Amino acid sequence: MDIQMVDLRGQYLAIKEEIDDAIAEVLGSTRFIKGPVVGKLEYELAGYLDGAYALGVGNGTDALQVAFMALGIGPGDEVITPAFTFIATAEAAALLGATPVFVDIDPQTFNIDPDRIEELITPRTKAIVPVHLFGQSADLDPILEVAQRHGLPVIEDNAQAIGATYKGRKIGYLGAIGTLSFFPAKNLGAYGDGGAVLTNDEGLYEHMKMITNHGGRHKYYNEIVGVNSRLDALQAAILRVKLRHLDAFIETRRQAADHYDALFAESDYITTPPRAPYARHTFHQYTLRIAPEAPGGRDALRDHLKDKDIPHGVYYPVPLHKLPVFAEPGAMRQGDLSETERAAAEVISLPMHTELTAAQQDYIAGAVLEFVEQRAAV
Ligand SMILES: Cc1ncc(COP(=O)(O)O)c(C=O)c1O
Repeated sequence: MDIQMVDLRGQYLAIKEEIDDAIAEVLGSTRFIKGPVVGKLEYELAGYLDGAYALGVGNGTDALQVAFMALGIGPGDEVITPAFTFIATAEAAALLGATPVFVDIDPQTFNIDPDRIEELITPRTKAIVPVHLFGQSADLDPILEVAQRHGLPVIEDNAQAIGATYKGRKIGYLGAIGTLSFFPAKNLGAYGDGGAVLTNDEGLYEHMKMITNHGGRHKYYNEIVGVNSRLDALQAAILRVKLRHLDAFIETRRQAADHYDALFAESDYITTPPRAPYARHTFHQYTLRIAPEAPGGRDALRDHLKDKDIPHGVYYPVPLHKLPVFAEPGAMRQGDLSETERAAAEVISLPMHTELTAAQQDYIAGAVLEFVEQRAAV
């Protein structure tokens, strides 16, 4: 059976006419940088997420860097963020000379544990950066509460969870700044790199606009040291089409997640992704925990799936505090990260995309159960 981890081709074919028309329009206009289509996407993104301002940037990592620069984060500062995630969040802080301070996760949701943040705050702390992992919102209210008590901004890394909600509200604008990635495999993916920063604060928006434009508001009148980071018009045109389909894409993913849940419900060794009561999960990833005592453990399962040509991923096999990049003394600070380490050893993500069929899921789940539970092959 031909199964993809993410079927970008199938999704393209389903909306080909709209995408091709949008691309042709940009080619006809030859406005490849900035131009009206980028402005329209920014306006529509802000509208979709119930916020005020969105600014397209080169990718999700740039979005984080620009957000940190706008908040004046630099050498000697500390940024509190999880270690069970992709490196970009901590990397952007470290690139600016700040120190990532790693907090443990809530084992139920894989997201930052709000109860563990306050003990890590010092006079050097400049921001709290939750990551909405795998498509589900972190528990934002207690994070915002501790941040407010200490006068700290919250930056939501929303690369993986566009369209997800927290207590009924779309996430991304609930802190000072939100960041998005449009990496092709994301729920709202471009056909190349792209990202955005989100804010309701006009001053921060104007500042981020200047930072991304070489630190100048007007051409050749640069005021501060900035960067060149912009979303190109072709990507914006593609994203405008896909944004119109995003709610349907999310619904398809949620239904696929429900189907997987039902298939794994009886297993003693598999924990399906819990839905937090405050969150509407968008299933950027469908991530299982495989109990270490399962007859076939997580790593052996990977080999089994490889033999069966079933794509899968481990997000993330090495927690950030264990990476060589943060090995130097002083390169990071950390709390107790035992839940982070446990998750890294137990998780496995299965194919999840808008074109996945129930028959494919039955086959994938059959292969997982057959191995983990040593059940008879289905
Ligand atoms: C949580 C998180 N933050 C940031 C990024 C960085 O995004 P990009 O690859 O667009 O730079 C990613 C994506 O890969 C991500 O998953």
